[in-house]
Amino acid sequence: MIVVTGATGTVGSKIVRGLRERGESVRALVRDLAAVPADWDEGVEPVTADFADPASLDAALAGADVVYLLVAVHPEMDAHERNVIDAAVRGGRGPRIVLHAAAGVEQRPEGVRFVSAHVSGHGHLVASGLPWTVLAPNGFYQNFLGMAASLQAGRLVVPGGTGAVSYVDARDVADAAVAVLTGPGHAGAIYTLTGPTALTHDEVAEQLGTALGRQVEYQAAEPAAALSAMLEAGWDRWRAEGMVELYGLYAAGHASMVSLDVEKLTGRPARSFAQFTVEHAALLRGEDAH
Ligand SMILES: NC(=O)c1ccc[n+]([C@@H]2O[C@H](COP(=O)([O-])OP(=O)(O)OC[C@H]3O[C@@H](n4cnc5c(N)ncnc54)[C@H](OP(=O)(O)O)[C@@H]3O)[C@@H](O)[C@H]2O)c1
Repeated sequence: MIVVTGATGTVGSKIVRGLRERGESVRALVRDLAAVPADWDEGVEPVTADFADPASLDAALAGADVVYLLVAVHPEMDAHERNVIDAAVRGGRGPRIVLHAAAGVEQRPEGVRFVSAHVSGHGHLVASGLPWTVLAPNGFYQNFLGMAASLQAGRLVVPGGTGAVSYVDARDVADAAVAVLTGPGHAGAIYTLTGPTALTHDEVAEQLGTALGRQVEYQAAEPAAALSAMLEAGWDRWRAEGMVELYGLYAAGHASMVSLDVEKLTGRPARSFAQFTVEHAALLRGEDAH
């Protein structure tokens, strides 16, 4: 039995779809049965559980052979990873855990909370004695879909300095995950998942502009200004500070490594950002809500 956590999210929903396309049965964790996606068929068993509720995790993981462990960005995300790992241990079957982490989990940069949480989760996983694999993706192309309004106004405003980032398509992360969940030989591996090239934010803006049919200018925000803007927009402080830390990593050029692990796992090259922007042009223009 393959169990997928975070199954309704950006990556998890694509993993569930990919597993079903391979004919695999899936147990999918959801918080709310009313939110089960319409495309889930009888091969997907939704179970309600919450990362903060160990008893619900015990029930959700019962009988699991392999678990895709993806937690949401949250102040308690490291505890959430530990809770799932502990439930897997309590289940007694010793399932294989595929931990969805973030690029940098091996390099352990100081002061980047989103990465540090996964470093902590990975440490707990290693200590658990369960067989494990880590997927460590760089920032997702899909993040730019959330900036569509600003992009339509011709501006990409992030505190990314001049550093290049090897952003990756979340669809490639999901395809790589499906390969690891269904295939042998991944024990103890940490796969870094990136796009095929590292792009500066000037290049990102240019490619988004091409898809939008208008000029988009990258405006490198100062970290303090970016934090204020996120807080004014209603972000909670923990998450907003985390974003500034992450962009600091990008600005310093520490997210520019290009890995061939997507191709190694999926058998085809990682999608380019240009391909992503063309395929999502309608969404970026606000013309397609789907
Ligand atoms: N975004 C990036 O660029 C990026 C890059 C590298 C790594 N990552 C990592 O990727 C992960 C996020 O992946 P994503 O973007 O696919 O996530 P996402 O779209 O935000 O989805 C989060 C998923 O977690 C579920 N969830 C949230 N809180 C929960 C709880 N308390 N108990 C049970 N389920 C809960 C959500 O379910 P509901 O439907 O109930 O909300 C949803 O299915 C994070 O660990 C992050 O560090 C992100």
